[in-house]
Amino acid sequence: MATSMLRIGNVELSSPALLAPMAGHTDLPFRLLCRALGGVGLASTDLLNVHSILRERPRAMRLAATAPGDEPLCMQLYGNEHDPLPEAAIWAVDHGAAIVDINMGCPVDKVAKKHGGSLLLCDIDSTVRLASGIVEAVTPKTGVPVTAKIRLGWDDERLVGPDLARALEQVGIAAISVHGRTTEQFFRGRVRLDGIRDVVDAVDAIPVIGNGDIEVAQDAAHMIEYTGCDAVMVARGALRRPWIFNQIRSLLIDGTALPEPSFVDKLEFLILHLNLILTHLDERAALHRMRSGIAKFARTMGHVKPLKESIRTAHSSSEIRQALELWLNRARDGWEPKTIQEGPEAEARAREVAHATASMAGVSL
Ligand SMILES: Cc1cc2nc3c(=O)[nH]c(=O)nc-3n(C[C@H](O)[C@H](O)[C@H](O)COP(=O)(O)O)c2cc1C
Repeated sequence: MATSMLRIGNVELSSPALLAPMAGHTDLPFRLLCRALGGVGLASTDLLNVHSILRERPRAMRLAATAPGDEPLCMQLYGNEHDPLPEAAIWAVDHGAAIVDINMGCPVDKVAKKHGGSLLLCDIDSTVRLASGIVEAVTPKTGVPVTAKIRLGWDDERLVGPDLARALEQVGIAAISVHGRTTEQFFRGRVRLDGIRDVVDAVDAIPVIGNGDIEVAQDAAHMIEYTGCDAVMVARGALRRPWIFNQIRSLLIDGTALPEPSFVDKLEFLILHLNLILTHLDERAALHRMRSGIAKFARTMGHVKPLKESIRTAHSSSEIRQALELWLNRARDGWEPKTIQEGPEAEARAREVAHATASMAGVSL
């Protein structure tokens, strides 16, 4: 399956697989890890509070930090019409954003109750005015496109996604990414591909990026085939498989299904992530990120409970490194853990096999 190169405003993306914003995860080291493993067309920061970045608060500066190799970068902002979003968007452009995205989908109370996020799905007119003000402040002067990340609507009674997307296109929003759930759904149920297709059908010319529940490359191919979206965005799946972008790119552009990385590869990716955190953040972040991230990442590694335990209980990054190197040496000698027979990982594998079988038989799942 070949898909044409994706362009968002003046930014040409080398791959239709995008890393979604994920608060607490998509910091510079994680973005660089995904990019190093290949196939990332665009990566986004966590959602950024506009007041905090304009005041250059240390935490916000860490979240907005970028470095060579972290291109093209999307910075995501959240706020509402009372916030200085246009000024913050200009700040983002001045600090390395190739694309500025407005969060219109965050369902978390802290954001959606007063500040923005999904709240913006509730009043289309005011959201479109807000978006128009940001586009006018940024795009004519700098050429940088402004995009919006939405959900299908607040709830099933208010599925505003298609109308909102159409109205945003008319004021110059350069692309829409859509998570195929309502705010009220939070993360429950399966992604609703019909809802994404309605958004695709509603816009005239701008790209629509589909998002939700992409766990393996075949899920991305299926989403594009079913909805007609131009690209996909992966969030949680990337915490388990940061190499998924390369697999998606390869499947969509070259028609090649790349194999799963080996056990040795995966241990090397963990060491690379550790090194990137130590280079760009610090010891504290290394301990926190590796300890909290290992459960998700290790889901694709078979039975590695002792490895997970040694990382979770480590007191320093050097203890983590020692544990990883020990396992790496064993793995290089040919040792491999037993594969997993049940749980989300096995379900994802089963879906992978089902998609492959269906596509060989010419059936669409
Ligand atoms: C821990 C976590 C943090 C998230 N943070 C953000 C965020 O900062 N901005 C945003 O637009 N979406 C955020 N999302 C939503 C994701 O970008 C994505 O839309 C959603 O997880 C569905 O995609 P997935 O099934 O690939 O995970 C977050 C999701 C998770 C799980």
